[in-house]
Amino acid sequence: MDYSPDTIGGWVGNRLHGKTAVVTGAGRGIGKGIALMFAAQGARVIACDINADALCQLQDEADAAGIGEIVTVAADLTGEEGAAHLADAASALPVVSILVNAAAIAVFDWIDSMPFSAWRKTLAGELDTVFLVTKAIWPLMKARGGSIVNFSSANAHVALDTLPAIAHCAGKGGVLAMTRQLAMEGGPHGIRANSIAPGFTLTEETERHLNNEAMMKSVRAKLMIDHLGMPQDIGWLAVYLGSEESRYVTGADFSIDGGATAW
Ligand SMILES: NC(=O)c1ccc[n+]([C@@H]2O[C@H](COP(=O)([O-])OP(=O)(O)OC[C@H]3O[C@@H](n4cnc5c(N)ncnc54)[C@H](O)[C@@H]3O)[C@@H](O)[C@H]2O)c1
Repeated sequence: MDYSPDTIGGWVGNRLHGKTAVVTGAGRGIGKGIALMFAAQGARVIACDINADALCQLQDEADAAGIGEIVTVAADLTGEEGAAHLADAASALPVVSILVNAAAIAVFDWIDSMPFSAWRKTLAGELDTVFLVTKAIWPLMKARGGSIVNFSSANAHVALDTLPAIAHCAGKGGVLAMTRQLAMEGGPHGIRANSIAPGFTLTEETERHLNNEAMMKSVRAKLMIDHLGMPQDIGWLAVYLGSEESRYVTGADFSIDGGATAW
């Protein structure tokens, strides 16, 4: 991924001026792109990940680009203790106006061979992380309202023949449904909740699939356009959902997948 000062400089604006954001999974991939974009758009960002080294790199890249404030917090968000540690750090802010739940871990295997432990690990990594962090941050959003951005997936909508995603499909279907309910419960408090459903998006992690011919052939065959998605393609929607531009938008799920789930 290219997080050079020039690239980040191209994201600078003031669409999130005055906002405070908690972004999980900010060590790499989509969460990292969003943390950098949010800071470039004027938000004060608390960036959390289980990977402390990756957070140091994020901080270095943000500093080199000379963008706004990013405070980093290392925590394992599959447990209540990690979520409480993040909420403690966030409570130093006057309020939290945006929460992006991008942290996730999934094990991919076919139903024939997936051990129960891998199923449980995936649901903890995809569902518990969202539940625990949202529950911990909720009191910090309730006072003034805010916006929650969760990640479902194309896999919450369609099956893929080349990806053994049984547990991942369950986790992402869960996030999709959970987000609608969060929108309902958050409405009276001015809290909006939406999810983004990315299709195959190039990240440090998914880059390794580029060598998997069968998988990439199937991914590309579904695209209506001729390039793969990047974290910033997702990031611009997160900026919209975090800002007042989307004040009438809640309980929605947005596909960003090059048309892959549209046919
Ligand atoms: N990249 C894609 O193609 C794609 C497609 C559909 C959906 N998504 C979803 O988008 C979101 C972001 O995906 P990504 O591709 O950037 O993922 P990624 O695996 O590249 O990054 C996830 C980040 O979460 C962190 N993390 C993992 N477990 C954690 C834990 N227990 N506590 C704290 N942090 C933890 C990791 O260290 C990592 O930095 C995920 O919810 C993913 O399921 C991604």
